[in-house]
Amino acid sequence: MYTLGEFIIENKGCSSHSIEGLLRLFSSIKLASKAIHKEVNKAGLTKEIIGSSGITNIQGENQQKLDNFAHRAFIESFKSRNVVCGIASEESKDFIVIKKEKKENNNQYIVLIDPLDGSSNIDVNVSIGTIFSVYMRKSSIRMNLTIEDFLQKGSQQILAGYIIYGSSTILVYSIGNGVNGFTLDPSVGTFYLSHPNLCFPKTEKIYSINEGNYAKFSNGIRRFIRYCQEKKGNRPYTARYIGSLVGDFHRNLIKGGIYIYPKTASSPEGKLRLLYECNPMAFLSEQAGGKASDGEKRILDIKPIELHQRTPFVCGPEKMVSKLEEFMVICK
Ligand code: AHG
Ligand code: MN
Ligand code: MN
Repeated sequence: MYTLGEFIIENKGCSSHSIEGLLRLFSSIKLASKAIHKEVNKAGLTKEIIGSSGITNIQGENQQKLDNFAHRAFIESFKSRNVVCGIASEESKDFIVIKKEKKENNNQYIVLIDPLDGSSNIDVNVSIGTIFSVYMRKSSIRMNLTIEDFLQKGSQQILAGYIIYGSSTILVYSIGNGVNGFTLDPSVGTFYLSHPNLCFPKTEKIYSINEGNYAKFSNGIRRFIRYCQEKKGNRPYTARYIGSLVGDFHRNLIKGGIYIYPKTASSPEGKLRLLYECNPMAFLSEQAGGKASDGEKRILDIKPIELHQRTPFVCGPEKMVSKLEEFMVICK
C-alpha cells in the first residue's frame, strides 16, 4: 500500500511541479492535520477544544476554539517547513506573509485555507474538515507579496484538497491529474492510499442543500428541489445534508450527489467563500469528472476581488449540475 509520500514520488511523471516542493508542502499539511485529528478525537474530554473562543472572526461568525487551534496549527506548520511564502485563512482578516528562514530559499507557494470547516458540528461529534488551495505567487520573488498573489482565478490552482475528520481521517487531493484519497492509520501516524482515482459515480443518488431556507431560495432552486423529489426514472433522490461542506462533498463524491449552497433573499452573495471553500472543491469536482458553478457560470473562471468574497455554489456530477443550471435559466 502506497504511503502519501511514496505516491507523490511515484507520480512525478504526471506533475510539472517540483517533487521536493510538493513533499515539503504535504509534510506541513500532514503535520497540522495529525495535530487536529488528535484534538478532534478527544474533543468530548477536554473543555479546551469544544465551545466558543469568545472571538468573532472577520466573517462576523462566532469563532470556535477548534477553529482557532486549527488555524494556528496550519500557520505554524507551514512556517516550519519553509515552503510557503503567504497564507490566507478564513480566520484571519489579511493575508499572512511567511518570512524566509534561509536566504537561498525562494518559497513560491501561496496557500488559501479553511482550517476548520463545519464548525457547528464540532461539539456534536459530527464530521468536520480542512480545505486547502495552492497557487504559485505571481509577484517577483524579490518584491513583497501583494493581494494579487492571492486573488487568482481558481483555474490557476496547482493543488487543491481537503481533510475529513470523520469515522476515519482522510486526505483527498488533486494536482490536476485526477483525485486520490489517503486514510490516516493513527497507530503509525501515516496516510495510506485508500481511495485511488476518485470519480463521481455514473448514477446520481443524492441532493444536499439546507432546505430550511426553502422560502428564501430563488424559483430556479425551488424548481430543482422539486425535480429531485419527483418520482420519475431514478428519482426521487435521497436528501442528505450534514452542514459541513467537506463531509457533504466527500459523501457525494463517493455515492453520487449534488451539493448546493445558493444565494438567498437574506444572503444575495451566498454563504460559502470563493477562495478557500468553493475554488478548491470546484477544482476537485472537475478533476473527479464533475462540474462546479455558481448556478450560471463556472466557479474556476471567476476573477476574485477580495479575500473573503462569497459566492453561490453548486458542485457534483456533471449531469446534475447542468440540470440545475437549466432550471436557473428557465426561471430567470
Ligand atoms: P465554516 O465552519 O468553515 O464557517 O463553514 C461552514 C459552512 C460549510 O461547511 C457548510 O456547508 C455551511 O457552512 C453550512 O451552512 P448552513 O448551516 O447555513 O447550512
Ligand atoms: Mn467552511
Ligand atoms: Mn472554517
